Amino acid sequence: MTNNIKISNRLKTIGDLVLDNSSVVDVGCDHALLSIYLVINKNCKVIASDINKLPLKEAKKNIEKYNLEDKIKIVLSNGLECINDKFDTIVISGMGASTIINIIKKDIDKVRNCNKIIIESNNDLYSIRKYFLDNYFKIVNEVMVYDKGKYYTIIVFENSNKLIKYNLSELYFGEHKYRNSDIFIKYKNYLIDKYMEILRNKEVDNIRMLLNFLNE
Ligand SMILES: C[S@@+](CC[C@H](N)C(=O)[O-])C[C@H]1O[C@@H](n2cnc3c(N)ncnc32)[C@H](O)[C@@H]1O
Repeated sequence: MTNNIKISNRLKTIGDLVLDNSSVVDVGCDHALLSIYLVINKNCKVIASDINKLPLKEAKKNIEKYNLEDKIKIVLSNGLECINDKFDTIVISGMGASTIINIIKKDIDKVRNCNKIIIESNNDLYSIRKYFLDNYFKIVNEVMVYDKGKYYTIIVFENSNKLIKYNLSELYFGEHKYRNSDIFIKYKNYLIDKYMEILRNKEVDNIRMLLNFLNE
C-alpha cells in the first residue's frame, strides 16, 4: 500500500466527495495533492491538469514521490480544452467563480458527458449556483468546511433533465437543508456579525436582504 498523503481539511473534504473508482479530471491541480489523495484513498484514475507549466512540474515531482505515474496523467490545459481521455468526474477547486464558469462554458459538452462536477469556488457562490442551475444541472450536495481560519463551500452538481429554480436566498446561501450543520451555523453567525458591523457604519440595502435570508 502506498503511503498516505497529508492534505488540508479543505482538500480532504473535496476528495471524500468523489466516488470510489472514478475517473477524475483535477482541473487546476497545482501540486496534485488532491489527485494523489484520490488514487490512494479512492482508487481513482486521475488526469491532473493545469494551465501553467510550473505547477505541473511540482505535480510531477509529487506524483513520482508516491510512484503513481501509472495512475495519474499530467496534462497542460486551459480548463478542459486539451483533455481528450474519458472521465466521469470533474473537480475544480481553489479558483474564482468567473474562472470556473468560463472553464465550464467553454467545454460544456465535455461537462455534460460526466456524472459529477465538484466545485469549490473562492468567491461568489451565487453566480456558481445560478450558472449551473440555469444550464440544466442540479445540486446534489453542499458541504461546508473550516480550514485555516476560512470557511469553504463545496458544491456537487449532476446533470438534470429539468430546470431547477432556486429563490434568491437559496442562490446566495444554498438550500435550507444544507444550513443545519454546526459549521454552517458558525458561518451564519460570523456573517451576521460582519454584516451588522457594515450596517453600523453605513446603509447598505443588499446587506439588509442577506441578513433577512440568514434569519429566515
Ligand atoms: C490556487 S490553485 C488551487 C489548486 C488546487 N485545485 C486547490 O484547490 O488547492 C489554482 C490553480 O489553478 C490553475 N488555473 C487557473 N486557471 C486555470 C485554467 N483556466 N485552467 C486550468 N488551470 C487553471 C492555476 O495555475 C493554479 O495552479
